Amino acid sequence: MGRKILLAHDHVPGIQGYEVYRKQGGYNSVEKAIKTMSPEAVVEEVKKSGLRGRGGAGFPTGMKWSFLAKPEGVPRYIVCNADESEPGTFKDRYLMSRIPHILVEGMITSSFALGVNTAYIYIRGEYFYIVNILEKAIEEAYANGWLGKNILGSGYNLDLYVQVGAGAYICGEETALLESLEGKRGNPRIKPPFPAIAGLYGCPTVVNNVETLAAVPFIVNEGGDAYANVGIGKSAGTKLISASGHINKPGVYEIEMGITVEDFIYSEEYCGGISNGKKLKAVVAGGSSVPILPADKILNLANGEKRLMSYESLADGGFGGGTMLGSGGFIVMDEDTSIVENLFTFARFYHHESCGQCSPCREGTAWMEKILHKMIDGHATLEDIDLLWEIQAKIEGNTICPLGDAAAWPVASAIRHFRGEFEEYVKNPKAINKVTRMAV
Ligand SMILES: Cc1cc2nc3c(=O)[nH]c(=O)nc-3n(C[C@H](O)[C@H](O)[C@H](O)COP(=O)(O)O)c2cc1C
Repeated sequence: MGRKILLAHDHVPGIQGYEVYRKQGGYNSVEKAIKTMSPEAVVEEVKKSGLRGRGGAGFPTGMKWSFLAKPEGVPRYIVCNADESEPGTFKDRYLMSRIPHILVEGMITSSFALGVNTAYIYIRGEYFYIVNILEKAIEEAYANGWLGKNILGSGYNLDLYVQVGAGAYICGEETALLESLEGKRGNPRIKPPFPAIAGLYGCPTVVNNVETLAAVPFIVNEGGDAYANVGIGKSAGTKLISASGHINKPGVYEIEMGITVEDFIYSEEYCGGISNGKKLKAVVAGGSSVPILPADKILNLANGEKRLMSYESLADGGFGGGTMLGSGGFIVMDEDTSIVENLFTFARFYHHESCGQCSPCREGTAWMEKILHKMIDGHATLEDIDLLWEIQAKIEGNTICPLGDAAAWPVASAIRHFRGEFEEYVKNPKAINKVTRMAV
């Protein structure tokens, strides 16, 4: 069995409730931090741990925390990003609904470290049932003295609120999230200034993913080095992976970083192999936004090494031959899957979710959807494949936020690795009717 940090107590009956969570050592990190450590010492442990943001970009958390401006007399905020709208990603949902107190605890310890007195969990509207679970956990934390005024008699105060979004993917982008939290339309802000300088209500703010904050209790309890010793190289610790698609055992798995992708797909401990004994065709390893990887680039790297579940190994080969760990939304496609039809599903999603602020994204995502629709309808020409390539290239890097890149990368990688399949749709559309379109 692989190492478990976040889901170590997932199997314990009643772990959703305060009493059981506390019996398993819950809230020890708050006690340890407040009673025995300075805020700076907590930040130092997080830096040492090598923890990287689990929301997608993998930015080092301790470094992000150390950028937080601390002007006199100005409040600072922590906002937990629980928007989780990336297609293929459902790990935060799992964690928050099974072990809500681990997030509450992580937020308290992190808030203490950063001198924050007001913190928010911004959760997507579709997770309304989890709002109740989180609010109950927060209520229990207040009732037991972990939140509110003068926590553990230290003079430290913290209030924690849950804010529900209205179901827009763009509100997962941290500055759009902050706009939405302020009650405005969720349009991404131009950066700089970054939230660490001017975030919520113009005040210094740290935005972190659910899974990132939930890792903090272990780091404080066991020490940054203990966390850094799990995983591989700069991919420290464990990662929650939402596994879906053509596998025998879809679900949320906590893996130690550094296991091989092959093991993750085929071992009984995780995905249990491809369903119906089919062959692997491709994987989207980090949510719909990351480049797709064909099977021959998954099981082995060009240098003969195995591809690993780590930030570095998945990126090996650059965008021409690698991908990203992203949010850990791992979608497996078998040999019967149509890349073109899947891409159409993704393109439709990005077109629908573009906020419309930047022309390349607003117009480009619409065009990509239209061309792919034409293709699966059997009316496309070979020039349309080149046009699709050109459009994605004009979106990438030309927008305020990375939603444009997220829409472009799947298209670029699909054409790069599966151009022949696009050509088949043009030349022989009637023959392409046995393929499957996966619902994402
Ligand atoms: C379009 C878009 C959607 C995003 N959605 C999410 C999301 O649902 N959850 C999340 O944690 N990060 C999301 N992110 C990344 C956030 O902007 C931000 O990097 C992250 O919350 C930082 O937390 P971390 O450092 O703990 O990963 C999204 C980014 C973009 C561009």
